[in-house]
Amino acid sequence: MINIGVIGYGYWGPNLVRNFAETPGANLAAVSDLDPAKLATVQKRYPAVKTSTDFRDMLKDPSVDAIAVATPVNTHFELGMAALKAGKHLWLEKPMTESSEQARKLIDEAQRRKLVLIVDHTFIYTGAVRKMKELISSGELGKVLYYDSIRVNLGLFQRDVSVISDLAVHDFSILDYLLGEHPVAVSANGTNHFPGTPENLAYVTLFYDSGTIAHANVSWLAPVKVRQILVGGSKKMITYDDLEPSEKIKIYDKGVSLTTDPEQIQEMRVGYRTGDMWAPKLIGTEALRVEGEHFVDCIEHHKVPHTDGQLGLRVVELIEATSSSMRRKIRRNGETIDIKRQEKVA
Ligand SMILES: NC(=O)c1ccc[n+]([C@@H]2O[C@H](COP(=O)([O-])OP(=O)(O)OC[C@H]3O[C@@H](n4cnc5c(N)ncnc54)[C@H](O)[C@@H]3O)[C@@H](O)[C@H]2O)c1
Repeated sequence: MINIGVIGYGYWGPNLVRNFAETPGANLAAVSDLDPAKLATVQKRYPAVKTSTDFRDMLKDPSVDAIAVATPVNTHFELGMAALKAGKHLWLEKPMTESSEQARKLIDEAQRRKLVLIVDHTFIYTGAVRKMKELISSGELGKVLYYDSIRVNLGLFQRDVSVISDLAVHDFSILDYLLGEHPVAVSANGTNHFPGTPENLAYVTLFYDSGTIAHANVSWLAPVKVRQILVGGSKKMITYDDLEPSEKIKIYDKGVSLTTDPEQIQEMRVGYRTGDMWAPKLIGTEALRVEGEHFVDCIEHHKVPHTDGQLGLRVVELIEATSSSMRRKIRRNGETIDIKRQEKVA
């Protein structure tokens, strides 16, 4: 049984607490939050769980094997490092850290101490994203030509991070998982409509060596909530609507082919294929449950998590490159930034 403590019981923390409390092989041992009123709610729901406003109580507790950090991003490094130094396996919320330098230090520390470090990029554990991966890996989709995402809604405006760290981060992790390739360049335009606050709207384009192009439109200033992704392959295409209750993924046997006959090339013969559409059955288990079980399995059997520190680091590097492109002087906003190839952390 892996005893897990959770730091942070705000918006996302309760989802972790609920899942760890129900995950086979895991025991929800402790919860910490700065707000005693939030801890009172935990006590009412889970009377056997230790609670404290001081996260250090968890570090000192030898019965706690692992710690999940679900606090604001600017605290991840400090809390994560303290947990590792206390010998605890670590679950860090996305994005992993504020800077890639901090991410590298955490990866290093976890490796040195042989501790599991998982970054909660939840989408990777959803049935929908797993299905997309399967379709791409099996070759059914063909070559991935493009990925186009819209992730917009009204709020929640955040004071410490931009809409990139809040929303585009999901596309960065999904793309990393689906393509298994790091982009070589990024161009981003974004703005904050309220002075003194981080960007609340952004359009991000990522370029890949393979020729795949990806785009994400992210915003906290939309009248409706939209969570849609299109993936265009040379053989088939996918639509993914995360708000759709049952048929989230639809596969279209649609595409275009140009004639390769040299005699007809001048006429540019374009053939359109409009075949069937179907919606595959997806695994319905809650992603956090799948991820929680995976975390326990990694700890028990010394495995590397699907969303390990390296993936977390690549995502943070992309946030940095995107922010850098977006924050050039307004005239040059959107300037393409070459992405430095990730040096592997020893
Ligand atoms: N995986 C996902 O899909 C997903 C979704 C939402 C949020 N998140 C991530 O979860 C993290 C938290 O986001 P949120 O929206 O829940 O924030 P939040 O502000 O609602 O909650 C953070 C909580 O942490 C507590 N806290 C802060 N410092 C603390 C400390 N030193 N010790 C104990 N408690 C402390 C605060 O009191 C607060 O209750 C962020 O990294 C965010 O990006 C992930």
